[in-house]
Amino acid sequence: MASMPTSENPTRLEGSYIAEGVEIQEARNTCLLFSTKEQDSGALAEMLKIFKKHNVNLVHIESRSSLRIPGYEFFVECDGKSIGLGKAIEELRDQCSYFNVISRDYKDNLSAVPWFPRRIRDLDRFANQILSYGAELDSDHPGFTDPVYRERRKHFADIAYNYKYGQPLPHVEYTKEEIATWGIIFRELTKLYKTHACKEFNHVFPLLVDNCGFREDNIPQLEDISRFLKDCTGFTLRPVAGLLSSRDFLAGLAFRVFHSTQYIRHPSKPMYTPEPDVCHELLGHVPLFADPDFAQFSQEIGLASLGAPEEYIEKLATIYWYTVEYGMCRQDGHLKAYGAGLLSSFGELEYCLTDKPEHREFDPEITGTTKYVITEFQKIYYVAESFESAKIKTMQFANTIPRPFGVRYNAYTESIEVLDSKKQINNLMKNIETEFQILQNAVNKLKV
Ligand SMILES: [Fe+2]
Repeated sequence: MASMPTSENPTRLEGSYIAEGVEIQEARNTCLLFSTKEQDSGALAEMLKIFKKHNVNLVHIESRSSLRIPGYEFFVECDGKSIGLGKAIEELRDQCSYFNVISRDYKDNLSAVPWFPRRIRDLDRFANQILSYGAELDSDHPGFTDPVYRERRKHFADIAYNYKYGQPLPHVEYTKEEIATWGIIFRELTKLYKTHACKEFNHVFPLLVDNCGFREDNIPQLEDISRFLKDCTGFTLRPVAGLLSSRDFLAGLAFRVFHSTQYIRHPSKPMYTPEPDVCHELLGHVPLFADPDFAQFSQEIGLASLGAPEEYIEKLATIYWYTVEYGMCRQDGHLKAYGAGLLSSFGELEYCLTDKPEHREFDPEITGTTKYVITEFQKIYYVAESFESAKIKTMQFANTIPRPFGVRYNAYTESIEVLDSKKQINNLMKNIETEFQILQNAVNKLKV
């Protein structure tokens, strides 16, 4: 999605730090989730003998109380290079009451579900799945011949590469020159927000000034922003070292995690960047992640992507492009921008409200198959009536994705629940009943 532009447009800011449909060939481990027919204490030991018999190396083993059956469930991660894995899977499947294969090698294994992170700490894996390291610049990049800038980019890429879930986001001392670049962009964009940005954006922006140091003379720190977003909607930021695949990037959104760059563009061209930078992330993306409806809309795109077939990942990445990056909405009869690519680009923010581009109604089925350009202003913008309506439409689209299970994010355990059993559905119903009672109670009190 962000294959690097070759031609330069001085007012253009690149959209998204994700790449279309490409998967890294390394670290293709296969994960097995299973419950044995026999549930006695030696069950796991018996299963482990099968892996040994077929020379399958195990990277990780864990046992948990099953949410599907009365008993236990095992999660085993196998080294993807183990030649005997196919035979081991065949033998294991016969002895299990529940068996699921989650693999990055799903294209060669038709019964496997494409790999996705199940717990928030699994996002640490993405650091090793990047498509290019952030310090490597293309020859037409404004910083290509600047050794100081390249060194600085390597520093930022190293921060992200070494980051682990749960750690504070590293504080960065930005240089005077970097702050000056930020200042130019901040000053120009903030002139337009009142008239061009959606009301949710303008509602949040003063809070970022008050709480996170959004000022012309200060580049805010990811840690301060992440804490603020966590309080507002549960969204958090993670530093990213390079280009992620669409599948991985979207999966982060399912956990309300946004992968953010931390470096800034080259000072020689403050109004141009061939890739997303801290200006794009902080001024474009961050404000709306503090809005509950937008946060939920973004998470729905992420949840829809988990375990989805490749062609649907492409559609979801395109929907993401036309909404989170370049989305527009209608408010009080006027067009307004909410996409980060617009809100971080002085030129395109002005252009998108004119009658030069085409404005179409947001419809995920059609939007998801509309080709887009990345080296110039968009020719088409999709307009949503509200984030709520965009969310409902996206959820309806998600229901059409062929996937043999439902998914739900459990915010208590910070994990994805794969819903594929009656027991889980019954538990979900009980949760909804409890929520409904809370609702009824609150409604009754309001009446008093
Ligand atoms: Fe972006």
